[in-house]
Amino acid sequence: MSNLKEKVTIVTGASSGIGAATARRLAEKGARVVLAGRNEGRLAKIVEEITTSGGIASHHVADATDFESTKTLVAFARRTYGPVDILVNNAGLMLFSYWKDVAIDDWNKMIDTNLRGYLHAIAAVLPSMLERRSGRILNMSSIAGVHVGEAAGVYGATKFFIRGITESLRKEVGVGNGIQISMVSPGVIDTGWAEKVQDETGRKIAGELNKQGIPPLSVADAVIYALDQPPEITINDIVVHPTRQDW
Ligand SMILES: NC(=O)c1ccc[n+]([C@@H]2O[C@H](COP(=O)([O-])OP(=O)(O)OC[C@H]3O[C@@H](n4cnc5c(N)ncnc54)[C@H](OP(=O)(O)O)[C@@H]3O)[C@@H](O)[C@H]2O)c1
Repeated sequence: MSNLKEKVTIVTGASSGIGAATARRLAEKGARVVLAGRNEGRLAKIVEEITTSGGIASHHVADATDFESTKTLVAFARRTYGPVDILVNNAGLMLFSYWKDVAIDDWNKMIDTNLRGYLHAIAAVLPSMLERRSGRILNMSSIAGVHVGEAAGVYGATKFFIRGITESLRKEVGVGNGIQISMVSPGVIDTGWAEKVQDETGRKIAGELNKQGIPPLSVADAVIYALDQPPEITINDIVVHPTRQDW
């Protein structure tokens, strides 16, 4: 039987791309999934698809950059299904730009979402996991948190940050507390992210890179492998990238 059955699971950034694919796969495995994001229409549509196929899922609108909003999300999950067993920390922005373009607004948005947002979600679930001496946190990192790519200076730095906090969490709260801390580091995944890049030159680079992209389900399957482990096994990191991607 799957270790994910009936597990109360929050997926942030579940209104599209990797988060949506992951939420679908988790529900197929029998998890009780709360999909989070800001776009209520898209979240509701994915929840409807999941429940129509026999899965258990709900959605909650939450802004990852706002700690109060994230706490409300976790309270909703607890009220709806029970204490949170699994957090998939995934809501993120990939705003490519060159340093010479000094895209300070994009840098700040990524810091607010990819750094503060991840910390907010961890802060909101960790106390209860520590109390119950059980739980799983999976942080969505990136190949850009392993190798620095073109026009991905600040974006990559946010993913190096995620690599750092994941290792620290694993050593400090994983070891000895029964909490499993994992990370998945995708390469280029075709989710539509490239069209969301504001900076003009950054968007061109992202568009070119995205031609190598593979489907989001390839990452969702890696997430399922990482999370569907017995309590004594932790998968630290899985790097999944297109065969043809050369970094
Ligand atoms: N695609 C890739 O090539 C790739 C590669 C490596 C790593 N990743 C990582 O994978 C994760 C998902 O990326 P993706 O490609 O699936 O992107 P995506 O399709 O653009 O999805 C991003 C998700 O993040 C949510 N989000 C953004 N800002 C938010 C905020 N302030 N509050 C709450 N939710 C917010 C969006 O939901 P709303 O708009 O509804 O708020 C959306 O559901 C990111 O962390 C990204 O860095 C992606």
